[in-house]
Amino acid sequence: MKMLSNERRGKQTFTLKLGLLRPSCMITKYAERLKFLPPPAFRPILDQEDPPPEGRHAFCPYALWTPRLINLNRSIKMAKARYDEAQLKDLLLQMMETELGGEQVYRTALTCALNDDLRAEWEEYLDETLSHQNVVRHACDQLGLNADEKAPSRAVVKLIGDSLVKAMELAKSSGNAVLAELVACECVVHAETKDHANWELLGKVAEAATGETGKILKDAHKRVEKDEDHHLYHTQGWCRELWIQSLGMPAVLPPPEEVKQVETAIGASRAEQQRKSML
Ligand SMILES: [Fe+2]
Ligand SMILES: [Fe+2]
Repeated sequence: MKMLSNERRGKQTFTLKLGLLRPSCMITKYAERLKFLPPPAFRPILDQEDPPPEGRHAFCPYALWTPRLINLNRSIKMAKARYDEAQLKDLLLQMMETELGGEQVYRTALTCALNDDLRAEWEEYLDETLSHQNVVRHACDQLGLNADEKAPSRAVVKLIGDSLVKAMELAKSSGNAVLAELVACECVVHAETKDHANWELLGKVAEAATGETGKILKDAHKRVEKDEDHHLYHTQGWCRELWIQSLGMPAVLPPPEEVKQVETAIGASRAEQQRKSML
């Protein structure tokens, strides 16, 4: 058997593998167009190679490094931190501001509520919002963050919270109590949409985080997640039914979300679909 030089033997082994890995050279052509350059070690070899003729895919010189490069990229992604720490801090500061603003939103909304069941519901949500403030503050303390630190994004959250309070006060000043209650419902839905999204995002980071940070985030998320589902889905139900009532149509009060004790988006959708049978 003819002995091959090291370089030649390397090429032989290399091209043999290609036949198994890459039945077509089309992919490697696209890789070339996308500037996926081969590692430097392969360049001298590749530079000497003519483009492989169609049909001789087993001798395609790119096919060895291309899959390796892709796999390498994947493994780098897996090994890297699974979330951006600076953005997590920003999220926590926004969460603190959302809960502080939520307190003001509920305090004002309670002065607009006409329906006794709605008022009782919001009183409960206000208590829970105060508890959420403590959960976020505690999580920040544990993570070595200052929960009161200023941030541009947080200033926006505050502006929106203050605007919701002003909107309710404006509605109240009109002297139309029904309008004020509807506006209060809408403002609570706005506030709770942000609140719910915050906690949902924190839950995603908690899943990705490991060690002490993961433990802190998972604990905080577990303590609040259900409350936030309840706040959003039930208030959406109140808002919809009170609006329907104001339009002179039959409404389900308390809303189906209350009766069915909805705690999920799917449950909220089902409850809304069943409302006609509850009239
Ligand atoms: Fe909250
Ligand atoms: Fe909430």
